[in-house]
Amino acid sequence: MKLERHPPVVTSLKPSNHPYLNGAWTPLHEEVDAEDLDVIEGTIPHDIDGIYFRNTENQVHQPLGRHHPFDADAMIHQISFQAGRASYRNRFVRTRCFQAEQEAGASLWGGLADPAGTSQRPGYGAHGGLKDNASTDVVVHAGKLLSTFYQCGEAYAIDPQTLEDLGIAPWGPIDGVSAHCKVDEATGELLFFNYSKHPPYMHYGVVGVDGKLKSYIPIPLPGPRLPHDMAFSDRYSILNDLPVFWDPKLLERGVHAVRFFKDMPSRFGVVPRHGGPDDIQWFEAAPCYILHFLNAYEEGDELILDGYFQEDPTPPPLTGSVEGHEHMMAYLDMHSFRSRLHRWRFNLKTGETIEQRLGEDTVEFGMMNARYAGKPYRYAYSVSAKPGWFLFDTFVKHDLQAGTSETVKLPDGVYASEAPFAPRIGAVDEDDGYIVSFLIDENRGTSECVLIDAKNFAAGPVCRIALPHKLSSGTHAVWADRAFIETGRVAA
Ligand SMILES: [Fe+2]
Repeated sequence: MKLERHPPVVTSLKPSNHPYLNGAWTPLHEEVDAEDLDVIEGTIPHDIDGIYFRNTENQVHQPLGRHHPFDADAMIHQISFQAGRASYRNRFVRTRCFQAEQEAGASLWGGLADPAGTSQRPGYGAHGGLKDNASTDVVVHAGKLLSTFYQCGEAYAIDPQTLEDLGIAPWGPIDGVSAHCKVDEATGELLFFNYSKHPPYMHYGVVGVDGKLKSYIPIPLPGPRLPHDMAFSDRYSILNDLPVFWDPKLLERGVHAVRFFKDMPSRFGVVPRHGGPDDIQWFEAAPCYILHFLNAYEEGDELILDGYFQEDPTPPPLTGSVEGHEHMMAYLDMHSFRSRLHRWRFNLKTGETIEQRLGEDTVEFGMMNARYAGKPYRYAYSVSAKPGWFLFDTFVKHDLQAGTSETVKLPDGVYASEAPFAPRIGAVDEDDGYIVSFLIDENRGTSECVLIDAKNFAAGPVCRIALPHKLSSGTHAVWADRAFIETGRVAA
């Protein structure tokens, strides 16, 4: 391996026993370029050509109040595969807030678990008091990487090859862009939404493969909501109004307290991809919260939506956690909110909704072959987590047609990152490719990249590649074929 280290960033972080600043959440501050990565086991596949991108959370400065992992700064990691060789690179996303704190040498904004008034500068996002840290999601659109913030901020554009900052995406509206923009690889279009505390409370937009805003329409809601994801089929986009949002009475006093209004239905807004506000059709379903959707597709008069149904979206504090952080940990524990793979069938003719549970396992962070996004599909990939923590310890492959699943459990103390699907060059079958993930090994203090052959899933990794440093945990990741990165769409 050939390694080049970059000049260090300014940090003021002090040692602590905070659960989300230690162990697998120990922030990484080093930025490197590494070529010809060493193989620990197996052979680097010659039959994939593309890049896996991962967004992690890395606190740089001493927090002003209570640290929440989603407050930390975005770091993008990439591992690039070509002709049986792999290279690695990582960079902080130079958001305007990151740069302001680098100049100040200290934190300037409070976080999600802090009371109003903690921030020393005006805040961003739907919440209004937070740092726009772009550390939630990462997608590739129109030849650029976009790093986004779940509370709605700027979409930060990054060169997917060099990870050089390319500035703020110019099409972003005044209310910002939520995490989980969706890219239809067939058309190259990016579909996005945002949300806010002022009417109409939500918007939906489409950006073309040319990087220009094609449409931006209001999605009027009854009040401020906290949507995290959206879904799309070939012809429709699906927005949501779920009964988990800031308590309106407390919000009047500036307190942001998330509550589950279990007597209210879940609502799904279906709109033609390029439709207007008058085209929205609303469907009602059982109350729940949904962090992430998996896919959607059309079948006759029905629109099918798959995602992860949370049975208990606002769980009580966990017991036995590190003092002062119990409630935060409950909100980050997929076992506490009991997340299950679920299907909603919306009849576009009758307005009826039919719901179906697809599994009883506690899983989340769904991925599938992106070439089947918006279309009928058979295979999905999820992860499960260590109870009590936001740390993934099991990969799951679901066969949605057969109703079966296969799992790969990691050793104790080893945690995965979100694991997208990398199609094999010339693949014909939907599951002809690899699941790609970064591991954090707390036993050895190292990180590695693993590839699992999706057709022989239960056999576990076919290749393990050493990474030059130990990563911090985070949220989302994406795979992009090199041809898609270069052209902005997948050839028909
Ligand atoms: Fe997310």
